[in-house]
Amino acid sequence: MNSAVAIRAGGVDLRTPVILASGCAGYGPEWGELVDFAAVGAVVLKGVAREPWLGNPPPRLMETPCGVLNAIGLENVGLDVFLTEKLPAAADLPCAVVANVVGREPEEYREVCAALDGEGRLAALELNVSCPNVRAGGMAFCADADGLREFVARCREVTTKPLWVKLAPMLTDIVPAAKAALAGGAEALTVANTLPAMAVDVRARRPVLGNVYGGLSGPAIRPVTLRLVHRVYDETGAEVIASGGVDGWEAAAAYVLAGARAVQVGTALFDNPALPAEIVAGLEEYIRREMFDDVAALVGKLRSGQV
Ligand SMILES: Cc1cc2nc3c(=O)[nH]c(=O)nc-3n(C[C@H](O)[C@H](O)[C@H](O)COP(=O)(O)O)c2cc1C
Repeated sequence: MNSAVAIRAGGVDLRTPVILASGCAGYGPEWGELVDFAAVGAVVLKGVAREPWLGNPPPRLMETPCGVLNAIGLENVGLDVFLTEKLPAAADLPCAVVANVVGREPEEYREVCAALDGEGRLAALELNVSCPNVRAGGMAFCADADGLREFVARCREVTTKPLWVKLAPMLTDIVPAAKAALAGGAEALTVANTLPAMAVDVRARRPVLGNVYGGLSGPAIRPVTLRLVHRVYDETGAEVIASGGVDGWEAAAAYVLAGARAVQVGTALFDNPALPAEIVAGLEEYIRREMFDDVAALVGKLRSGQV
């Protein structure tokens, strides 16, 4: 790990600070030849629950200006198939592999964390406590700071893996949730999930999504998420992994300057699978030009005040 873009984030050594976001990279091998995995620091696999989930009724995805609205509803294969088929298939990926854990109630998360603890291929567990598209196991966790601390602490008890807690963006203030997750034992905070949103088909006079509501992602949400990353880093000094609308190296650099140690790419990957390699090349050039030693030296280095 002596390249300028290598960094340790959330207890994991990353070859680059570019991480494929959960739900946008399947269970790993789906991107096959399209993505240059040499440019990828880690892949966060599609969320896994104790039992298989069917997800929400269609339509589940639509394009919006500069973004995507999705209401997949955490469709997933369940723990058994994850362990016997999906995780072995991800074993050959030349980057760190992180599981994304979902559940309908806290005990379910704990059971999944305990079952994944012995899996040597997993570098960390990301707890999704912020999905806007499911009734339970979603954002409600984040709104109650005491509950969130207790919840993370109970997952912490059953695993030695680093825990990344993926927070919701739509809270009155994200800082209490961030502090609660850290107090519960999180190594890093993923900031943040999709923004609750909806779309209407005026001709049909119906909501577009089968679930009515969905989560907005893509460049449209980036200014909102950038502020949240800055708030969390500024107030807690935590290790932050940014997730929201990264579509190039400048977006990645903006997140790092605001305090993120790594960035996840999701929606923009569908448009441009070459994105991880482009981000890494752009960051390397930026680090050289700005005369920093490496990406770690850039973290939080936002100048304050006026020019
Ligand atoms: C189709 C789709 C499926 C997703 N599934 C998950 C998921 O299973 N678990 C999760 O934590 N986040 C999920 N997300 C959220 C992404 O991981 C990411 O946090 C979010 O899309 C913001 O990043 P982006 O703007 O780069 O897409 C999903 C997003 C999309 C677009």
